[in-house]
Parts: sequence; structure tokens; C-alpha cells
Amino acid sequence: MDVFFINYKSMKAFIDLASSYQKHQKEMEESIQKVLLSGEYIGGSMVQSLEKELSSYTQSPYVVTCGSGTDALMLALKAFGLKPGDQVIVPDFSFIAPAETVRFLGGEPIFCDIDEYFLIDTHSLESWIGPKTKGIIAVNLFGQCADYEALSLIAEKHGLWMIEDAAQSFGAQQRNIYSCNLASISITSFYPTKTLSIYGDGGAVFCKSKFHADFIRAMANHGSTERYKHKYIGINSRLDSLQAAILQVKLQYFQEELLLRKSKVEHYNQFFKDYDFITAPAIKEYNTSSYAQYTLRVSSRDQFIKVLEKAEIPYQIYYPIALSHQACFSDLLQNPENKNTLQACQEVLSLPLCAYTNVEAITEKLKKALA
Ligand SMILES: Cc1ncc(COP(=O)(O)O)c(C=O)c1O
Repeated sequence: MDVFFINYKSMKAFIDLASSYQKHQKEMEESIQKVLLSGEYIGGSMVQSLEKELSSYTQSPYVVTCGSGTDALMLALKAFGLKPGDQVIVPDFSFIAPAETVRFLGGEPIFCDIDEYFLIDTHSLESWIGPKTKGIIAVNLFGQCADYEALSLIAEKHGLWMIEDAAQSFGAQQRNIYSCNLASISITSFYPTKTLSIYGDGGAVFCKSKFHADFIRAMANHGSTERYKHKYIGINSRLDSLQAAILQVKLQYFQEELLLRKSKVEHYNQFFKDYDFITAPAIKEYNTSSYAQYTLRVSSRDQFIKVLEKAEIPYQIYYPIALSHQACFSDLLQNPENKNTLQACQEVLSLPLCAYTNVEAITEKLKKALA
């Protein structure tokens, strides 16, 4: 069997992760030193103060950091009491983690189609709700949030809980509310390529209720509420103090980097206006984006890829296969044939985007290659 490793070479060309570190190197190293000398390597004051800052940024009242965005989803599902056989509606076009965690805990993901903005389709969603449906995981893809006003109405009508997967949308807003505060439990990821990122794995759960936050904090720490007293069967999923120290520095410059990302997106959008086989990403009027990815729709993608490769412009396909068509879900015997999802899988293509991407150089090369 082939074993898949992360291809750092291609990722490095796609997204320049080191430049943010170089820009704030002195502060980061001071912050790291502080942790190394403190003797507090897991949890402790650095993590506590970070959680307060995340709460103040997002306005979410309770924040619990943890080991990854995937763990955050798992913890949120446990907080909602997911049981084997329970059904949870997830978008068919997404990173796998929402569907994967539901299945990992014995639940059944039900794959809903997306709309033209790559977000869970609130019009067809209700048709998937049945007697076993317990909740919805809405994914905020490529930086913008699903429609939580419409989703909340559906969830309330059918007595469902809802999780906001904000792994790709930290910093975005919807109707003036920050992402990570749009559902009773929200989650995010600090994976290195995310908008707010660290140099390793990490994540956080954002809760509107103290009850959920206390439960999640205990679950992430071996189900323990007091030292060596274990109330639940839990896991070990905690953020390292070193990563918390890095995140605190990054959070100070986050807004500045978000604006830089926005200016890169505007440059790309302007450029692609002249090419009618390409559709630039659109943002709904009540959303702002965190610009996690710059994802185009390209009607003749294979041909465009040849142009990019010839011009040595890096690209990624997020995501090439509908989740419902993944081998790991074949036992579910669901063949939803979600039209918009299948079309997106054929058309999407993401170009390099971070606060320090040289988009002018990319579009210049592309202009020549397309001439
Ligand atoms: C939408 C979405 N949800 C969840 C995750 C999982 O986050 P992590 O990689 O930190 O486990 C990701 C990561 O890419 C994601 O994109």
C-alpha cells in the first residue's frame, strides 16, 4: 500500500509560510523563550491568556483550545451527545474532517449539496432531515461563512443542534458577527496553512454555554475535572504552551495580515475579469471573508492546468472528490449525486494566497502564458 506523506515542497511553493515568521521573528523568539524558561509546557498561563484573547476577538464567551481542528470537532460532537446511529448533515464538498469525525464516533454523515458559493445549500438541506437526524455541521469554506440565519431557523424547527466549522474562516464576519460565534458550538483549526496559524497542529472550540465549555475542557484532558478524578472517558487533546506563545504574537498582526490578503484577492479579481472561462470567487453581501483560499471556477480546468504548469505557477485542487464518493464512506450506501458538488469538483482550482504572496508576479506570468 502506498503511504501518503505531506508534500512540503509543493506546499512551500503554494504558500509562503516562513515569511510571516521572518517578519515577526524577534517577538516570536522572545515569546518562545518565555515559555521555555517558565517550565509550563502544556496548559498554564500562556494558554489561559490566549483563550481570553481568542474570546475577546471573536466575542464568543467560552474558548477551549485543543490539539487540532479535528479534535475540536470530535469534542463538539461529544458535547452534543452524538451516539452511534445518529445522523448528522454535512456538506458534500468540504475537507473530510466534519464527515470523518461523525463517522469515527459511529454516527452517519448525510451529505448535502452546496450552493454557488461552495457553502451548504440551505434550500435542499431540509429534504435530508429524517427521524435519526440530530444535528448539522456547517462548514465555512475558503474563508466565508454559511448562512447561519437560515440554518438556525431550520435547526430550531427540527430540534437539531448545530456546529459551525470555522477552520477556514477565523476572522470572517457574517451580519457583523464574528465567525466562531455563529452557532452554539464553533470550532477552528490553527494548522500551518490556516489564516491564523501555528507551527504544528492546534485547534479551539468556542461555546456559548459554560456547561459545554466545562465538559469539553474535561473531555480534552482525560475526562478529568480535578487532578486524578475522571468523570468521563476522555482524550488527551491540549494546545502546547509554545504554540500558544506563537499564536499570541500572530494574533497581534492578524488584522494587518487579513487586510494584506484582501488586497491580494482584489488584485486577482481584477485580473481575472478579462478571462471569460474563469469565474473569480464571490462573497455574499452579508459576509466578509477571511480569504483562506483563492478558489476559481475554471470551465476547461485541464487546459488551464497545463498553462499554469508551463508558467510554473503553483496551484491546488480543493477538493477533487465529493465526500459521498470517498472510499471510506462506501459502506454508507449513499449515492446522493449532489449536482453542484460534482460540478465544483470538476471546476475548482486554488491559486497561491497568503499575506505575503507576490500576486503581481503570478498574474504577470499568467498574462504572458495566456496570451
Ligand atoms: C473545514 C475544515 N474542518 C476541519 C479541519 C481540521 O483541522 P485540523 O487539520 O486542525 O485537524 C480542516 C483542516 O483543514 C478544515 O479545512
